[in-house]
Amino acid sequence: MFKKVIAIMTASVLAASMLVGCGGSTGASSSAPAEQKTEEAAPAEAAEPAAEAAAAADGDLASKKVGVCIYQFNDNFMTLYRQELERYLIEQGFAKENITIVDGANDQATQSGQIDSFIADKVDVLIINLVNSSSAATVTDKVVAAGIPLVYINREPDKAEQQRWEDNNWNICYVGCDARKSGTFQGEIIADLGLDAVDFNKNGKIDYIMIEGDPENVDAAYRTEFSVKALTDAGFEVNCLDDQVGMWDQAKGGELVANSLTQYGNDIEVVFCNNDAMALGALQSIKNAGRTVGKDIYLVGVDALTEVVGYVISGEITGTVFNNHFAQADGAADAAIRYLKGEGNEHNIQCDYTKVTQANAQEILDSLQ
Ligand code: BGC
Repeated sequence: MFKKVIAIMTASVLAASMLVGCGGSTGASSSAPAEQKTEEAAPAEAAEPAAEAAAAADGDLASKKVGVCIYQFNDNFMTLYRQELERYLIEQGFAKENITIVDGANDQATQSGQIDSFIADKVDVLIINLVNSSSAATVTDKVVAAGIPLVYINREPDKAEQQRWEDNNWNICYVGCDARKSGTFQGEIIADLGLDAVDFNKNGKIDYIMIEGDPENVDAAYRTEFSVKALTDAGFEVNCLDDQVGMWDQAKGGELVANSLTQYGNDIEVVFCNNDAMALGALQSIKNAGRTVGKDIYLVGVDALTEVVGYVISGEITGTVFNNHFAQADGAADAAIRYLKGEGNEHNIQCDYTKVTQANAQEILDSLQ
């Protein structure tokens, strides 16, 4: 149903994404993706992964054990993701009791312990949403040594790490969306309104604030960079008033936007949030400040949470971008199944984002039900 394209992130784009953020603001350093260590990681001795996978292909999926690590359950988007993942795995023939999904509680040490337990338990395949993407090399090495195929999701390991999978022909892949596109869509939603509609203070610029997600997910840096780039590419002058890290969290996002509104008041014309949870927090703060989205300020997010799509329909949020958790979860499960069947996978499997404005919000909402 969903179109999948294969793509590998380039080092140049990763490097470029480190340059974004408001100059001089606290966001300047926070915009850079996490430094990812891979060079010192010695390739692990693979316990004949191909043979393991082929052995696992014997018998049907109902007897196969799947270990799923989620970076934290307390995340709106990852909750939708894991619910779909479990539903789809069962639909494909896995037994519910053989699917174990654990909460990393946003702590890498906790998650590493969970991965050790899955290895000790001899799961047939692992699906991992890392807490720290910089831990990928360590995790890869121990999983490869145990001969277990692995599908990384949501937090993309860096290019050097992905190169090791390729070079060593390991049964490891990443399934996710290219977050640059989601940022571009956010910027386009604002650009399409035109300068006259957005430039309330008539200084000839689009004055915005940026609320970023956790830098451990490169999505945060890409969305930050490419939302603004879409505006400048469309010929607009931009002015970043504030750039803060809201960690993907609704309450934190709301708090940061409230502070910015107090500090910069009516000069804020656009609020970019790297995800919808933070946009929901932002909306509350915008209302509390007596401002009205669509009338004297604009607000965009990413994910297309049902609640947010409802607000796009009612005009209370300007737009969002559908971060297709169905395509990502089903794609991750399909990749896991291919490993179990001994078929192998491309090392980087990408899904598409969809721009959501009032024009198509109802259609998107219907597809989410
Ligand atoms: C989503 C966020 C989520 C994050 C978790 C992002 O792709 O847009 O909503 O909090 O992933 O890593």
